[in-house]
Amino acid sequence: MLIFADTADTKLLAELNETGLIDGVTTNPTLIAKSGRNILEVTREICAMIDGPVSAEVAATEFTQMVAEGEKLAKIADNVVIKVPLTVDGLKATRVFSDQGLMTNVTLCFSVSQALLAAKAGATFVSPFVGRLDDRGEDGMQLIRDIRTVYDNYEFETAILAASLRNTNHVAQAAIAGADCGTLPPAVIQAMFQHDLTDKGLETFLADWASTGQSIL
Ligand code: E4P
Repeated sequence: MLIFADTADTKLLAELNETGLIDGVTTNPTLIAKSGRNILEVTREICAMIDGPVSAEVAATEFTQMVAEGEKLAKIADNVVIKVPLTVDGLKATRVFSDQGLMTNVTLCFSVSQALLAAKAGATFVSPFVGRLDDRGEDGMQLIRDIRTVYDNYEFETAILAASLRNTNHVAQAAIAGADCGTLPPAVIQAMFQHDLTDKGLETFLADWASTGQSIL
């Protein structure tokens, strides 16, 4: 499963990117607002830093405006993915972008039937929101499993980008369910490295190694 960073914080992103484990980035209007920066400027910076798809979301809700905004965002760099909401106008715009060979990420997907429409519109990625379904007592991960089944049934090429992943268990379950990519807040990516048994085991190994008095170099 590809790991995307769900952030528009370029400082944090630069640190994470040093691990060589970041396959792409997603942003949304909330994350742009949090960054306090201009969307065109911050997207350009992220695209130059990350060797992978970078989702930048349109703000318009009407088809013609969405197409104009998406085309402007796509001009920033070759790795821009135009992110559009899963609405009738959004899917019409997705078809236009897809016909132009531009990458798209259809976001705010909460049902299998919506995901089916996104694939039929030619979306490059579809973003089902796991955490927001969990937040209201539904089983967000089941949506990932069901979309996987439907896409496999019909050999759709749209990649499942598990979104709104809030913890490492979400990440593991999305990978087990066969999501193609997962987008994670920086804190969740950092938590993926951690296990108390790793820390404890390393402490013992270091103490035992010191007792040998050896040196490898
Ligand atoms: C990414 O594409 C989504 O916008 C993001 O994962 C949503 O996460 P949230 O539900 O935690 O805001």
